[in-house]
Amino acid sequence: MCRFCTRSAVRGIRFVRQGNLLNTTTFRLVLIYLALFVTSAVVLLGYVYWNTAGFLARQTDEAVQAEITGLAEQYAQGGLAQLVHTVIQRSRDPRQSLYLVVDARGSILAGNLDRRPAATLGPDGWLDFQYHRRTMDGTEEHTARARAFDLTDGSFLIVGRDIQELRSIEQLITSSLAWAIALTVAFGLVGGVIISRNMMARVDQINQTSRNIMRGDLSQRVSVVGSGDELDQLAESLNNMLDQIESLMVGMREVTDNIAHDLRSPLNRLRTRLERALMQPGATEEVRTELERSISDADHLLSTFNSLLAIARAEAGSQRDTLSSVDLSELVRGATELYAPVAEEAGMVCTVDIEDGLSVFGNRELLVQAIANLMDNAIKHGGQADGVPPQMLVRAYKEGRKVLVSVSDNGPGIAEQDRKRVLDRFVRLEVSRNTPGSGLGLSLVSALAHLHSGELTLEDAEPGLRVVLRMSTTEV
Ligand SMILES: Nc1ncnc2c1ncn2[C@@H]1O[C@H](COP(=O)(O)OP(=O)(O)OP(=O)(O)O)[C@@H](O)[C@H]1O
Ligand SMILES: [Mg+2]
Repeated sequence: MCRFCTRSAVRGIRFVRQGNLLNTTTFRLVLIYLALFVTSAVVLLGYVYWNTAGFLARQTDEAVQAEITGLAEQYAQGGLAQLVHTVIQRSRDPRQSLYLVVDARGSILAGNLDRRPAATLGPDGWLDFQYHRRTMDGTEEHTARARAFDLTDGSFLIVGRDIQELRSIEQLITSSLAWAIALTVAFGLVGGVIISRNMMARVDQINQTSRNIMRGDLSQRVSVVGSGDELDQLAESLNNMLDQIESLMVGMREVTDNIAHDLRSPLNRLRTRLERALMQPGATEEVRTELERSISDADHLLSTFNSLLAIARAEAGSQRDTLSSVDLSELVRGATELYAPVAEEAGMVCTVDIEDGLSVFGNRELLVQAIANLMDNAIKHGGQADGVPPQMLVRAYKEGRKVLVSVSDNGPGIAEQDRKRVLDRFVRLEVSRNTPGSGLGLSLVSALAHLHSGELTLEDAEPGLRVVLRMSTTEV
């Protein structure tokens, strides 16, 4: 995977990690489950309410209704006198029934209510009101429910019940149900948070391992808790996959290394033989030209093998132990002094701008190699076609905690969409087909930047290309 892809993937994971608890799938599932659970609890408790408090209320209404039917019969049989008589008798009963008969002039004729209630009729045709009930110690305010009728002779009848006790039962049931729902929601939420946090911690651990692997430590593995659940199974599958990838990568690296290594010696021998043959007297001009071409091809192959080996070594990270504090100012100055004559020979104006006292943690030879590759590219690919003198600018400077080395030219540059892929092995742009090279120079610089925990960026120098190598300073 190229370096840029790795960085964006790492950024992606960080983004996911920044999400809060509400964004986790587990917590969302818990909320959905909780909503379903609360809905079913409300339906169930509603049914319980309907069967308890509701049943009592309906029973009270039915009792009143039955009394009304009885009194209506009395009134039909014996008129107001019989009704008053029956109401007087029934009012003596100390149960919860309430009565009041008032004549057309407004005088109370019978009943245990001492006045006509001031309440207005409800939409269900019932009167809900407060009244004063006589007790042993005086009076108490009670709630009542009744029906009222205008009789044909102008008098007025109220039949009802004291529902004080019923209201208390209703209140008790309602508050119990409210508490039950509140506790269900509270326990559900607390449980959800605990489960989600637990899951998040494990997913975070998998993310952390992936990040470490993407940074180059392929030996990392996701930890397995041992519970055998889905996350454990996922961790095991990931670990098996990583084992396979690691063994494939090690195998590939070994094969590349071995091929490059084993082919180098016979190639060197071949080159020596060709050189010797070239020195033999008597060869025709044609043979000499062919021999010289063959030597140049062998050189190209050797340099390709060397580059491949250098990239493999840098990617393996085995040279990390060789890194030490390096004076980068002096190092870049040395490299430019070495390459400036080559640039000038190619007709290029080479400008150098290096800040003093820059230091990084690195390998001197590898850093010189990286800078040389960049300068080589500027000389090879940075030439101007339209007659403007080709220029190269090498800078080394500090920016915050970072030390930057940049090599810019005023050539054709690299189009934005090609800047990532030129870092891959053997990629050469179409325009460079006629220049010598194998497309490994930038791959090596990229691998070396990675080895130095640095960053390599290709930018538009307007015109031309600017390649920037960014590393951390060792200054305290
Ligand atoms: N300064 C530059 N200006 C324009 N194009 C460039 C520049 N540097 C690199 N490139 C393009 O990127 C390609 C890859 O560069 P890289 O250094 O990897 O390979 P190379 O220079 O072609 O060969 P090698 O470095 O192996 O000798 C080049 O072939 C070229 O097309
Ligand atoms: Mg190159």
